[in-house]
Amino acid sequence: MTNLIDIKNVRHAYKTASGPLPVLDGLTLSVPEGGFVAVVGPSGCGKSTLTKLVAGLMKPDEGEVWLHGERVKSPRSTVGMAFQNPVMLEWRSILKNVMLPLEIVPTKLTKSQQEDRARYLLDLVGLKGFEDKRPSELSGGMRQRASLCRALVHQPDVLILDEPFGALDAFTREDLWQIMHQVKAKEPFTGVLITHDLRESIYLADQVVVLSGRPARTQFTLDIPETGPRDIDMLYTPEAADMLHTLRHQIEIAQGRAPAEDTAA
Ligand SMILES: Nc1ncnc2c1ncn2[C@@H]1O[C@H](COP(=O)(O)OP(=O)(O)OP(=O)(O)O)[C@@H](O)[C@H]1O
Ligand SMILES: [Mg+2]
Repeated sequence: MTNLIDIKNVRHAYKTASGPLPVLDGLTLSVPEGGFVAVVGPSGCGKSTLTKLVAGLMKPDEGEVWLHGERVKSPRSTVGMAFQNPVMLEWRSILKNVMLPLEIVPTKLTKSQQEDRARYLLDLVGLKGFEDKRPSELSGGMRQRASLCRALVHQPDVLILDEPFGALDAFTREDLWQIMHQVKAKEPFTGVLITHDLRESIYLADQVVVLSGRPARTQFTLDIPETGPRDIDMLYTPEAADMLHTLRHQIEIAQGRAPAEDTAA
């Protein structure tokens, strides 16, 4: 199968006042078309840096980033992004906030088709009836749902989610996970999810990649077996407990709290 995202042997260091800070150290990661990969790793290891390279917002010092068989050298409009604290324009309605990327990214859609698409996505995430509200009138979970719609509105090839649910309470987060599955069934995308939540990674993704501590490289990869439509109950099975245990252990290795020779497992 061809990979939609191909990150090949990427190295990157930030220039800082006290000298170069190596952040990525020969990182390689691929996502097939329609795949959804979760990336976990210690805080500060380089996950957000990785998302900026995929979106073309930064160029790596070495190595290559490919999207759809094209080398990424500049910002890509075919990438949709959502972050932990969505920035919404308070003077615009939720509907107009969701439509924002269509004003920036060239689109063949007419104005009314653009509005239909935004309304369709808001309906899909359960925000029908909130189109005319202002961002401050929505709860954190609702704003995050709207931000997901905004990331998807221009039908991006790639969806990058950088800790999108990190600021939400546990129950709201689980609601959002289920909505993500519903959205992916209707609006298939190729995705990269950065998260600190191991349960979230195994519930949402079909592969979990653990990055080493900074400078990051791919330390461990876990494929999540496909067992049909995912139900939140899957998180309470012995198989899920095994996967979480494995990932937890890998994070401890990445943090330097467990011996590195265990990575061969
Ligand atoms: N523009 C920058 N200039 C200099 N250093 C930076 C810059 N951006 C990030 N860094 C540093 O690079 C390292 C990796 O940052 P990055 O944001 O990619 O980590 P992260 O894995 O996303 O962390 P977290 O899990 O806390 O979000 C950190 O040490 C950070 O301080
Ligand atoms: Mg980050």
